[in-house]
Amino acid sequence: MVVRDLRKRFGDHQALDGVSLEVGEGEVVAVIGPSGSGKSTLVRCMHQLESIDGGAMYLDGELLGYAAHRGHLRPLPDRRVAAQRRRMGMVFQQFNLFPHWSVLRNLTEAQVAVHGRPSGEAREEAMRLLERVGLAEKAHEHPRRLSGGQQQRVAIARALVTRPRIMLFDEPTSALDPELVDEVLSVVRDLAHGGMTMIIVTHEMSFAREVAGRCVFMEKGRVVESGASRDLFDHPTSPRLQAFLSRFNRDDVHERPLEKESMP
Ligand SMILES: Nc1ncnc2c1ncn2[C@@H]1O[C@H](COP(=O)(O)OP(=O)(O)OP(=O)(O)O)[C@@H](O)[C@H]1O
Ligand SMILES: [Mg+2]
Repeated sequence: MVVRDLRKRFGDHQALDGVSLEVGEGEVVAVIGPSGSGKSTLVRCMHQLESIDGGAMYLDGELLGYAAHRGHLRPLPDRRVAAQRRRMGMVFQQFNLFPHWSVLRNLTEAQVAVHGRPSGEAREEAMRLLERVGLAEKAHEHPRRLSGGQQQRVAIARALVTRPRIMLFDEPTSALDPELVDEVLSVVRDLAHGGMTMIIVTHEMSFAREVAGRCVFMEKGRVVESGASRDLFDHPTSPRLQAFLSRFNRDDVHERPLEKESMP
């Protein structure tokens, strides 16, 4: 996935002010930054949930959202956009499962309706994915009878049914009670170890440092600093990132007494 000089405005607010980013095959990139810095806007633009005002995005070398036509770029028809979108899986902070459908149907419906997969095959794929997130035994439950962590694991499985080339996570754990965060992070970690290409917007700094090979720090719609996660977290060069991380570490320790062990 390549993002080049991406620009997005909401009214007179420049939410993305020339963001460039490359994510190689099998690479995991974390996106961090203060509230309002444009992290969600970035992944929403990648998933073509937002129109863009400038720049370009490519998935496997293919331009997203536009096609060249007589020397100009023209927006792709909805059908082509939908096809491109299916090559990415997106997981939101709010799980957005259909509450009146069983877990299984949440996973099979799009496969059958959109991809035209035979229902037996769709069920097999759904069960395989539910096993992967450790929830095969919940296939026939309704989402409201699951914990938040379990619902988010179902949402991850659902995002995987299209066999995406890349997964986009927008703070997948920030709506969860603290004790449910780890089960979701461990599913994301397994995906990373399985070689899935991923972009993860997160406030879980130690997770980002551990799982993401690279990290991007955003502020005010720009990338302020990016590099290998270890370097970025252990030796931030920009004063903005230093300030952000020190504030974060304090908050983290404050919220999670268990992590005090790692303090000097
Ligand atoms: N649909 C919208 N209409 C108007 N302004 C928007 C819209 N979506 C986002 N913005 C604005 O764009 C800026 C970037 O928002 P964005 O949601 O991308 O930030 P973020 O980095 O994800 O923040 P957070 O950490 O709080 O999730 C913010 O100032 C926000 O108010
Ligand atoms: Mg956000």
